Amino acid sequence: MIRFLTAVSFAALLPLSSAAASEGDPIKGLAIAQDKCSRCHEIAKGGAFKKMPPSFQAIAIYRTEPDIWSRIIAPSPHAAMPDMTWTMTSAEVQDVLAYILSLDVPVSQQTP
Ligand code: HEC
Repeated sequence: MIRFLTAVSFAALLPLSSAAASEGDPIKGLAIAQDKCSRCHEIAKGGAFKKMPPSFQAIAIYRTEPDIWSRIIAPSPHAAMPDMTWTMTSAEVQDVLAYILSLDVPVSQQTP
């Protein structure tokens, strides 16, 4: 129940927080992603695209910024994505978000 309420209150904050997302540092975000996300996700640009869990580039291309943010902050309790945020500051979440968003480049237009 607490988990549910947390998700709801985060959803209410979405417009505010997505404005702040552009303040994240994608370079720091890459380091955080290597440390905390890469054991499950393909985090590299141009990495294997169709995977489970989805690659960060696939997420960047198919999801909106508020959607990505909320899935980091409040992953579905029914899925295998753990709640990472208790090991991360909100600035670190913004950095990872900025890194993921930096991958929003069509695969056909990538330079290796
Ligand atoms: C233990 C494995 C694991 C780790 C570690 C992990 N994830 Fe995930 N993640 C998953 C799985 C499995 C899914 C797909 C199921 C789901 O959506 O909950 C997922 C889904 C997601 C999604 C939603 C994807 C979509 O469908 O749009 C985002 C965003 C995400 N992860 C970001 C992160 C970030 C950022 C980190 C590091 C801070 C991270 N994940 C760490 C396993 C993991």
